[in-house]
Amino acid sequence: MTNNEQHNQDIDEIKEIAGYLWERGWAERNGGNISLRLKAWDGETRNELIPLKDIPENLANAILYISGTGCRMRDLARAPFKYGAVIKISNDTTGYHFLECGQGEKNVKPTMEIGSHLELQSKMIADNPEYRAVLHTHPIELICLTHHPELSKDPARLRTMLWSTMPESRVFVPRGAEITKYAIPGGAELSKLTGAALHNFDVILWEKHGALGTGRNIVEAFDFIDVANKSATIILKCMAAGYWPEGLSQDNLAEMERILVNKC
Ligand code: 13P
Ligand code: ZN
Repeated sequence: MTNNEQHNQDIDEIKEIAGYLWERGWAERNGGNISLRLKAWDGETRNELIPLKDIPENLANAILYISGTGCRMRDLARAPFKYGAVIKISNDTTGYHFLECGQGEKNVKPTMEIGSHLELQSKMIADNPEYRAVLHTHPIELICLTHHPELSKDPARLRTMLWSTMPESRVFVPRGAEITKYAIPGGAELSKLTGAALHNFDVILWEKHGALGTGRNIVEAFDFIDVANKSATIILKCMAAGYWPEGLSQDNLAEMERILVNKC
């Protein structure tokens, strides 16, 4: 696939997923944000350096599509370059330039969660370079579980509960979900907690806030969160029906790990 064909596919997928986020009620107002590393971008830098602190060094010269702060996913689904931008990190990682932004209108400013996105993009380059996409969204049922007084304080139990709701959860979220303690949106602490969690997990839950997924593309990042949220929905529906879900047994889960996990 040429770079141009890859861009077109990436942008089509971003539009598709942004639409799903809105339809599901995961993207109230400006809720959620997207970043995707691009191989190249035709076009000159549009402006002087915009300084940004704490950019990881291995992101020097990286080119990213990034959603704009305050922008609505339902708008981005129609006009990804009006409500998002393509930026290039400077060689010395002291800031970034816009390569594409605002479709000729006022510059959009990258999401306030850019720190978490860059932490994750940096870890992905180091550990798993074919991973290019980061999605943050506000999936209702997963957020509900992060409010649970016991589960929210016991990541291993929460992870196993999500896995044990249905076989697909164990198979298609193979590394499971991690929960990070509450930290203020957009802050450096949240970025660090997020970066630390990525090494081992497919979905990161931000306590009382939302979820992040990573993947080779935005569809894959969405799928991890979507499957985990289905599991959360099952747990909540069982609880609403008056019983605690029995869940698949440890033996069932171990059998799947042997036969299906990372094999489908
Ligand atoms: P942005 O509009 O800055 O992307 O913020 C949305 C959000 O979900 C913050 O966590
Ligand atoms: Zn958020």
